[in-house]
Amino acid sequence: MARIVGGISTSHVPLIGKAIAEGRQAEPYWRPFFAGYEPVHEWLAKVRPDVLVMIYNDHGLNFFLDKLPTFAVGAAAEYRNADEGWGLKLFPPFPGDQDLSWHLIESLIADEFDITTCQEMLVDHAFAIPMALMWPNTRHWPVRTVPVCINTVQHPLPSPARCYKLGQAIGRAIASYPSDVRVLVVGTGGMSHQLDGQRAGFINSEFDQLCFEKLTRDPQALTRYSVRQLVELAGTQGVEILMWLAARGALSSSVAEVHRNYHIPISNTASGLLVLQPA
Ligand code: DHB
Ligand code: FE
Repeated sequence: MARIVGGISTSHVPLIGKAIAEGRQAEPYWRPFFAGYEPVHEWLAKVRPDVLVMIYNDHGLNFFLDKLPTFAVGAAAEYRNADEGWGLKLFPPFPGDQDLSWHLIESLIADEFDITTCQEMLVDHAFAIPMALMWPNTRHWPVRTVPVCINTVQHPLPSPARCYKLGQAIGRAIASYPSDVRVLVVGTGGMSHQLDGQRAGFINSEFDQLCFEKLTRDPQALTRYSVRQLVELAGTQGVEILMWLAARGALSSSVAEVHRNYHIPISNTASGLLVLQPA
C-alpha cells in the first residue's frame, strides 16, 4: 500500500523565482532563506518520495473570478508552469500521476468532498517555486505530482476546519491506494503577509510561531479560527496558512518535527518552512 513519508510546508513568494533565475542564492538577502532548504535536500534524499501531493493556491492563472472552485484536483499527465503576471522564468513541466489522481478523486468524492476535477491544469508560482526549492537545478523532476488547489482568491474561502478535514480525507485516500508508492504531502503559501490595502506589509511573527507549534503538536487548535480571524492575525494573503493546515491533516496525528526555518522578510512575506514526518 501507499505510505506517506512526510510533509513539507513552505512559502512560495514569486521573488524567489527571480532570485533562482538570477543565481542570487548566496547573496546576504537570500542566504538565510535558501540555507533553510539544505536540510530538506538531505531529508528528501533519505525518504525518497515517488510522488507528491501538492496542496497550493492558484493566484488567478488556472482559475479566475469567472469560475473559481473551492477545491480542485488535477488529473493530467503533466502540468505546465505559466506566469500569471510576475515576469518569472518558467520551470519545465511537472509529470502527473493520473492513477493516483483518479484514486484521490474517487476517494474524496466518496468521502463527501465534491471537488472539481481538472484534466488540464496550468500551475503558477505557488506550485513551481516549492518544487524548485525542494529539487534545485533540476531539468527532470524526480517525482510525479498530483495538484490539489484551494481557493484563496475569491471569498468565501473554505474554513480552516474544512481544509484540515480535506487534508485528513487526502490522508485516508493515500492510505487506501493499493500501490507501494512513497508519498510526500506538500502545502505551500504563508506565512503572515498582506500585499494590499491599509495593512500592506503586515507581518505577525507571534502568530507564525504559534502556527509552527500548533501544526506539529495540536493542529486541531488552528481549526478553531474563522477565515476572518486568520485575515486579522496573518494578513489578507496570510490565509495561505490554510494550505499548511490541509497538508498537516493528511499526516498521522502524531508527527515529529524534522526541520523548520523562519525568515523575515522575503519580499512582503514572513517566509516559513516546516518538515514533519510520522512519529
Ligand atoms: C508575495 C507573496 C505571495 O504568497 C504571493 O503569492 C505573491 C507575492 C510577496 O511577498 O511578494
Ligand atoms: Fe501566494
